[in-house]
Amino acid sequence: MGFLNELVKAKKRKKKWAVLTAYDAPTAEILEKAGIDWILVGDSLGMVVLGYPSTADVTMDEMIHHCKAVRRGAPHAFVIGDMPLKGVEQGPRQALLSAQRFLHEGRCDAVKIEWNNSALEIVNRLIAEGVPVMGHLGLTPQTAAATGGYRVQARDAASALETLRRAKALEAGGVFALILECVPAAVAREITKSLKIPVIGIGAGPTCDGQVLVLHDLAGLFSKFTPRFAKRYCEAGRLIQTAVQRYAAEARSGKFPRAKHSFKIDKEELRVFKGGLHGG
Ligand code: KIV
Repeated sequence: MGFLNELVKAKKRKKKWAVLTAYDAPTAEILEKAGIDWILVGDSLGMVVLGYPSTADVTMDEMIHHCKAVRRGAPHAFVIGDMPLKGVEQGPRQALLSAQRFLHEGRCDAVKIEWNNSALEIVNRLIAEGVPVMGHLGLTPQTAAATGGYRVQARDAASALETLRRAKALEAGGVFALILECVPAAVAREITKSLKIPVIGIGAGPTCDGQVLVLHDLAGLFSKFTPRFAKRYCEAGRLIQTAVQRYAAEARSGKFPRAKHSFKIDKEELRVFKGGLHGG
């Protein structure tokens, strides 16, 4: 309750949250050092790290494995574990067990749940058990295939009002924040104004209380496609490729390694070693 009040107060003070995904220890460490507000171990893991065609393929074991790594890299960060479809599709009882795994095994501080037909019931169950929950509305990739594909949501008045209704229901249910993905900026602005909790946008315009991006989109590490809402802040993929090409050329030409990359043996030990080489 204290945490939720703090967030509501921070929103009133017009705090803006910067949220990013991470899936492993070294990048989590970078995010923590950079002072990111919250780290989301998103089920985008499936696409940007594990090479699945969609996020729906990610398993609970995979999510927990990566949450553990993130926590090792960022021991002090606020880490949110994303409940994958396979961890919630059987309803509230399964979702509670999954959420508890995120908190206890994955050492997350909270979980996130994408909207689905049982999302409200799941949120109620989790909140009753003391699990901090973040909601996710708008484009919900886990169910996108069944609900019209990967496109901008809430583009007509009826679905914009329905999104607002769901947002309010999630807030009333006790979620501490909400992700709003791929909705028109003007709709996101009204939803953000209507809620007391922070609304974190992704493809939802500049007036949300914060932003979230997939690290691999921001850093140029995922080349299959870049969503229109993502901004690339660097081309780490290209940098790594160039470094790998230089390394391969030097390894082949003998330019690498040099003496400074090698280890020495005492002269006398070497003499004895060489003497013993052909002595059996
Ligand atoms: O899985 C994820 O990374 C997400 C963000 C895109 C919000 O849900």
